[in-house]
Amino acid sequence: MEMYRHTFAEINLDHLAHNIRLLQSSFPQTPFLCPMVKANAYGHGDVQLARFLESLGVKHLGVCLIEEGLLLRNFGVKAEILVFRGFDREGAEKILQYQMTPVVSTWEHIEHLEAAADQPVNIHLKFDTGMNRLGFRPEEAQKIFDRLWQNKKIRLKALVTHLYNGDDALDTQGQSAEQLRQLHAVSQIFKPFNIFCHALNSAGILNLLSLKQKPLPENHPLLLQNWGLRPGLMIYGYNPLEDKSVCQLKPVMTFKSQVATYRRVKAGETVSYGATWKAQRDSVIAVVPVGYADGFHRILSNKASLLFAGHRVPIAGTICMDYLMLDVTDVVGTQDLKKFKDQEVIMFGYGAGGSFLSADEIGTLAQSITWEMLTSVGERVPRVYTGVDARFIHDEVGGE
Ligand SMILES: Cc1ncc(COP(=O)(O)O)c(C=O)c1O
Repeated sequence: MEMYRHTFAEINLDHLAHNIRLLQSSFPQTPFLCPMVKANAYGHGDVQLARFLESLGVKHLGVCLIEEGLLLRNFGVKAEILVFRGFDREGAEKILQYQMTPVVSTWEHIEHLEAAADQPVNIHLKFDTGMNRLGFRPEEAQKIFDRLWQNKKIRLKALVTHLYNGDDALDTQGQSAEQLRQLHAVSQIFKPFNIFCHALNSAGILNLLSLKQKPLPENHPLLLQNWGLRPGLMIYGYNPLEDKSVCQLKPVMTFKSQVATYRRVKAGETVSYGATWKAQRDSVIAVVPVGYADGFHRILSNKASLLFAGHRVPIAGTICMDYLMLDVTDVVGTQDLKKFKDQEVIMFGYGAGGSFLSADEIGTLAQSITWEMLTSVGERVPRVYTGVDARFIHDEVGGE
């Protein structure tokens, strides 16, 4: 891979494998384990990760766009690919041509598939149980059953819903519990199809895991049936719940760069656009070649501290399109700057000497969420794969 600027996202495949194996061993009986690799696998590189996930025994993958699924197929991904976004007639044809599984959420979707299919097509059916975004209303269940029962072109395989507040899934009176009860009730109508249901995202899955570690309560909605799993964030190593103790996930991405140059500034001088940072003492400023065009949000200007030589150092001044500056005075002290030539800087992830800066923390400072921090990492930032199987990735996908 050509890289003249040493700013990249290091993707640790051993950590991904750890997170996946944790799911596989915790839920050996699940009817459906479908890691979400939409949005370029949450910024980690979808083709590379999909192929690696297949090598770990993953049989189903979730994307949003038909285009995302096409890319995976074109790179030889064989797993079942679920397409969650809606589609028109043309989209239906592509889905069929590339043997993907549509998640159907409107009557029009059914019509498009019937028109496009010349042999039976497997579908998953989405119900809107409270997110108010996509899916049929539970009240429509019987009507859809009648439409699909003995339908020659459409084979219903599963029912789907999406939790909009999975954090509360332990609360039997909570919003998730209500959503799960609704989908369970709908699934009773569709029993003759021999379907399964999937509803749990990372928050739901981690709550279920914590429930299974205690004496099981009776009739908890999380235990109403053997729910299928659609983990996103957690396979990338982050736990969205407040309680992080349920299991040890390993963050997969380290977003890193290398200091391009240093500036010594005198007390009273300012740094970067708008002069928002003024040196209170004679200071050493590290210029780091990463900016908001790389997905490191400008709102973090003068707010976040990054890892420099394993130490937290504050961002000095406004983040530019291609650069940010760090006040490294406390780390460098009076030492010769040559000692810090090409020093590594971590925007989030693992740094020198066992140091770690969480994308959760950076997300909070950016008034954002971990999902957005990961998916924001820009297209021009190369992804570099590490871990025992990294060679497989580079060889197969031509990354290096
Ligand atoms: C339909 C669907 N299922 C599962 C997920 C995974 O969610 P999470 O990343 O919170 O695990 C998403 C993510 O947005 C989603 O849209």
